[in-house]
Amino acid sequence: MEILGIDVGGSGIKGAPVDVNRGELLTPRHRISTPQPATVKAVADTVAALAEHFQWKGAIGCGFPAVVQHGVVKTASNIDKGWIGTNAQQLFAEKTGCPVQIHNDADVAGIAEVRFGAGKDRQGVVLVLTIGTGIGSGLFHNGVLVPNSEFGHIQLKKYGLAEKYVSDATRKKDDLSWKQWAERFNVYLAEIEKLLSPDLIILGGGGSKKFAKYDEHLETKAEIVPAELLNEAGIIGAAGAAAPSVVTA
Ligand code: BGC
Repeated sequence: MEILGIDVGGSGIKGAPVDVNRGELLTPRHRISTPQPATVKAVADTVAALAEHFQWKGAIGCGFPAVVQHGVVKTASNIDKGWIGTNAQQLFAEKTGCPVQIHNDADVAGIAEVRFGAGKDRQGVVLVLTIGTGIGSGLFHNGVLVPNSEFGHIQLKKYGLAEKYVSDATRKKDDLSWKQWAERFNVYLAEIEKLLSPDLIILGGGGSKKFAKYDEHLETKAEIVPAELLNEAGIIGAAGAAAPSVVTA
């Protein structure tokens, strides 16, 4: 089964047709820079341009960097506030002329990792954390997703909002060494472990590509590994989540 997967991010909107049974891109991904400001209309037009690029006529699955319930965007931490209350699923369907399913970006990246990547065949509590402009989370129990978990938004006692303290954007802004950043991330992981006792933590998003640089500084009770599908997880999972019969979530 082939579905067009689209990953809407803060800097790029990326997509490719995906074989959702195998979890593989069928062509190289196509990327269009996210319009600035990323207004509802400008982003919807870009999603339509991406579908047009592939001359797509079938189903589309989309990952979006916010809480998404039944197609409606509910939060806007790192995106234009105008998105709140928008039925993005309906809007993208109108713009592309294709059936669309839309879910939180970290949830769909997690779906890809749990089905095809670092979490494959793993039972118990698996937590996927995406490290990028913000911190996204996908929580799974025995392969089943609990949607919109938003663990980037827990409050750290001394440091405030977790994603503002440990995101990749903050690491760059504060010019932290990998060791300094890992020390911050350990504070966050300790809090997460206190709340969830995960069996496995998978680190995804842009920050996961540099795992080898900070791995030795991380301290967790749970096993912690980098995502295997890296850049492609968001696209593969977005497509996979639009085909519920073949994904575990
Ligand atoms: C948003 C999440 C999103 C994460 C990663 C956070 O700011 O609240 O919904 O998954 O960023 O994009």
